[in-house]
Amino acid sequence: MPAGFQQLGGEVIFSLRTVTGTFVLSVFTAVLGSLEFGYNIGVINAPQKMIEKDYNATWIERYGEPIPTGTLTSLWSLSVAIFSIGGMLSSFCVGFVSEWLGRKAMLVNNVFAFLGGSLMGMSKLCSSFEMMILGRFIIGAYCGLASGLTPMYVGEISPTSLRGALGTLHQLAIVTGILIAQVLGLEVLLGSEHLWPVLMGLTVVPTVLQMALLPFCPESPRFLYIVRCQEHHAKRGLRRLTGKQEVGDMLAEMKEEKRKMDMERKGIFYYSTSIFMKAGVQSPVYATIGAGVVNCAFTVVSLFLIERMGRRTLHMLGLGGMCICAIIMTTALALLESVPWMSYISMLSIFGFVAFFEIGPGPIPWFFVAELFSQGPRPAAMAVAGFSNWTANFIVGMCFQYVAELLGPYVFLIFAALLLFFLIFTFFRVPETRGKTFDQIAANFQHHSAGGMMDMDLDMDLDKPSTELDYLGDESIN
Ligand SMILES: *[C@@H]1O[C@H](CO)[C@@H](O)[C@H](O)[C@H]1NC(C)=O
Repeated sequence: MPAGFQQLGGEVIFSLRTVTGTFVLSVFTAVLGSLEFGYNIGVINAPQKMIEKDYNATWIERYGEPIPTGTLTSLWSLSVAIFSIGGMLSSFCVGFVSEWLGRKAMLVNNVFAFLGGSLMGMSKLCSSFEMMILGRFIIGAYCGLASGLTPMYVGEISPTSLRGALGTLHQLAIVTGILIAQVLGLEVLLGSEHLWPVLMGLTVVPTVLQMALLPFCPESPRFLYIVRCQEHHAKRGLRRLTGKQEVGDMLAEMKEEKRKMDMERKGIFYYSTSIFMKAGVQSPVYATIGAGVVNCAFTVVSLFLIERMGRRTLHMLGLGGMCICAIIMTTALALLESVPWMSYISMLSIFGFVAFFEIGPGPIPWFFVAELFSQGPRPAAMAVAGFSNWTANFIVGMCFQYVAELLGPYVFLIFAALLLFFLIFTFFRVPETRGKTFDQIAANFQHHSAGGMMDMDLDMDLDKPSTELDYLGDESIN
């Protein structure tokens, strides 16, 4: 049997023999959505000054006077944060849209990306910040849908042994998208006064590519079989994806499994350039890109560590590390006036902050949510988690500028306090789920064994059928 395999961090087995060209194409096409999602997270912060300048110019053109500083801050904050509102609203529709349209939802979703990208790209030409804001809203809606549809599709077409690894691929595509946006956002490339509309509009490129490739990707057999009851079509899809003629086993297996929604996570990149500027860094954009590289690297590090150390331990390590970095950051910023080299300390602490984020609080909550809920309520739990995430994102996006102006460097103490709270909460209330069956996790909550000190071996496979565990409406989860 030509079974090439590779062991990664212990238990994730890459069984390459199940990979066909169609499968690779399908995953690649779907993950373009994640890339685009990351791109739109990362794209907004580098050209901030240029875009603000154009908002000002538009204002002068319309009203014959410079834009008041407060109005400019509001318009800019809105441009950044409305992305999250779009994502918030649409992420809530993922379940419904995917049941309705199936995988073709990704194709339809591209209309949003095309519209949003065009509006943003044309906004300077039309001297309209309204177009920019509307475009950000629509592209946010695209990203909210894509962030649910992509992992769902990839999860559904993947063989069980590859599912965990491909879940990481989705996250890698997001951070890669962020990095690409940051590099292209350099002033010497597209982050300049005249070229920023190109930077914004470039998001339609992966859209067009995805639109062109999607017709060659089979609909998720799981969707066809479980939701649509189209056994014949499901079999045909399975044959194309696996390259095998006999797919009866897989079809039977599908009955047992329900789909799992894996979701995206976001970094702290909305405001990184201005944070670095406040930190006294000379070329903030390069520092931002540095953070992007750290982000990518530690996403990979986390993939390896999560197998060895357990989720709870890593999560607490990440939270604690972020908390300490935030405190160092505050101290460094407060001393910056009198001690110039503090700018390097503050930059290092930002890198540390990002690294610790990617080790724990970045990837882990998504695994956790999927693990803590059984098959039945899991999609609903994921939707609530996604919604909370997007809401929190919106609040940070909208308020950061104001709070930062109000508190100066001490804005990071708010993060430190919240992180400490989350750390304490995790210590007392969150159990280790590594290597436990869903029943054991449920029992853990029932007996209020809050310490959750058990540290067993990890099983990345979140898709084991669980029948008994059902947390929705169960008081013991509080
Ligand atoms: C807007 O532009 C005018 C003229 O170039 C300038 O004097 C003013 O400082 C600008 N306002 C802001 C808030 O940048």
